[in-house]
Order: sequence, then structure tokens, then C-alpha cells
Amino acid sequence: MANNLLKGKTGVIFGALDEQSIAWKVAERCHEEGAKLVLTNAPVAMRFGAINQLAEKLNAPVIPADATSLEDLENLFSKATEHFGGKIDFVLHSIGMSLNVRKKKEYTDLNYEWMKTTFDISAISFHKVMQTLLKQDAMNEWGSIAGLTYIAAQRVFPDYSEMAESKALLESFARSFGYHFGTQKKVRVNTVSQSPTWTTAGSGVKGFQEFFDYADKMSPLGNASADACADYCVFLFSDLSRMVTMQNLYHDGGFSSMGMNPAVLGL
Ligand SMILES: NC(=O)c1ccc[n+]([C@@H]2O[C@H](COP(=O)([O-])OP(=O)(O)OC[C@H]3O[C@@H](n4cnc5c(N)ncnc54)[C@H](O)[C@@H]3O)[C@@H](O)[C@H]2O)c1
Repeated sequence: MANNLLKGKTGVIFGALDEQSIAWKVAERCHEEGAKLVLTNAPVAMRFGAINQLAEKLNAPVIPADATSLEDLENLFSKATEHFGGKIDFVLHSIGMSLNVRKKKEYTDLNYEWMKTTFDISAISFHKVMQTLLKQDAMNEWGSIAGLTYIAAQRVFPDYSEMAESKALLESFARSFGYHFGTQKKVRVNTVSQSPTWTTAGSGVKGFQEFFDYADKMSPLGNASADACADYCVFLFSDLSRMVTMQNLYHDGGFSSMGMNPAVLGL
């Protein structure tokens, strides 16, 4: 159901790898709501993913950028503003990757060089994106920037490993940069804390099926799907959320407020 909520707006979407990616769904919904888009992902994802199919469908260019490289980000935002013929209204950071999780290292035996790379990709890249946007003065006033996160930043989910700390850092960058972007440019910055979702990144977590089922049972509304997340992001990019900033917003069917749900105990 399209309501032209993003008519006339321009957005850059990071992280659409394949049809299951949350960013993929967000890009489709933003397009439906009338936004003009630029898609981006790491150069390596161009080879493994299906981003070009999405680009064709949405009539949006793909500008590759490794989100840890300032040079790539500078190139991305200059090309995006050139393509739009003006500044950017919204940006989605939908990037996550843990080397220690991928290589199945236990939390009590982590490789710290890999951990640094994990933080760089999954969290510091959010700061780099915002710093580059601010330096280039590339965002329109009342623009909106959102990053995707997970409740392991607040509560312990042992198999989420170092991604928990990545998300804590990501959420903190949203608050701290939200202050600077808000006061200087009236741009808002938030994180969306999403339910477990079946994607490449999500299913890389050990025991993901059990994890997914548990959260689904625990949440009064069940797990929020990637499609529902896309709806919520449209709201955050629209003018309907102009005064919401520096927030970590739970989009999880109620999971974050639950203590115990009889359904989980089979009662
Ligand atoms: N799937 C879940 O259960 C879940 C739950 C809550 C939050 N999230 C978050 O949602 C976001 C999107 O993940 P997803 O579940 O859609 O999985 P996904 O695997 O489809 O997306 C992750 C993306 O990160 C990109 N990426 C990795 N390294 C990069 C780099 N150096 N530069 C640029 N891009 C890079 C990948 O190419 C990929 O497109 C992540 O931040 C993830 O942590 C996911």
C-alpha cells in the first residue's frame, strides 16, 4: 500500500545483498513510496549478491563502497548528490559482519585483530558515514539517518558474541552524532532494534533457528518481519517522524518489554 510518504525524497541504502536482506525490503518500500534511490554495498558483495537485479527493478544506480573506507564513502556521496542533482534526504546503514562469529571463535577465546575489523565494519562505519555526510554537507535539513541494531546491545545473547559490543557502539554513535547532526543541520539519527530475521547475516549466528523461534514465542506480536521493518524505516525517513532523534527504537513485536511469557514454558 503506497501513500507517497517519500515523494520527492532521495535516499542512499547500504546493505542490500540478496532478496532476504532487510535493506532490500527497505529499498523496495522506499521506492514504492516515491523515493529516488542510490544503492550501495561492499565491492565484494557485487560478486556474491544480487544487488544489480534490485537496481534494475528500482531504476537506481549501484555505487560500490566499502563502508570502512573514507575514500569510498567520499566518492559514494559525491556521486549520489550528483545523480540526484541535490542533497540526500535519508540514509540506511544496514551493515553487519563478525569475523569471530564467522570463524566460529568462542567469546572467551576471541581474536582481537578480527574484533577490530568487526567493530570497523559493523559500528565505526556508521560514524564514518555520518562524518563524511556532514563534511560534504550532503544531507538536506530535516533529513533522517537510520542504522539497524539488535537487543544484544542491552541484554546477553551468548551466541551473538562480539556483535553485541558492535551494536552497543553503533547505538552510542547514533546518540552522539545525532546531537551534532541535529544542532548543525536538523538531521535526525536513530537506530532500529529489529527482531531476529532470516538473512545471510542473521542466520550466521549459531543456533539461529532456536533463537528465532524463542523470540517469536516470547513476543506478544511474534517476530517483526523484514517487510514490517521496511514499513517502519519508511516512517522514519518520512516527515511523520521529524522530531524523533537519538533514539534506539525497538521494532520487535514487544520482545524487549517481556520478562516471561507462559507460551515459552508451554503453559
Ligand atoms: N537478521 C537479523 O536477525 C538482524 C536482527 C537485528 C539487526 N540486524 C542487522 O540488520 C543489518 C542488515 O543485516 P541483514 O540481516 O539484512 O543481513 P545481510 O547479510 O543481508 O546484510 C548485511 C550487509 O552488510 C554488508 N557489508 C558487510 N561488510 C561491508 C562493508 N565493509 N561495507 C559495506 N557493506 C558491508 C553485506 O554485504 C550485506 O549486504 C545488520 O546491521 C544486522 O546486524 C539483523
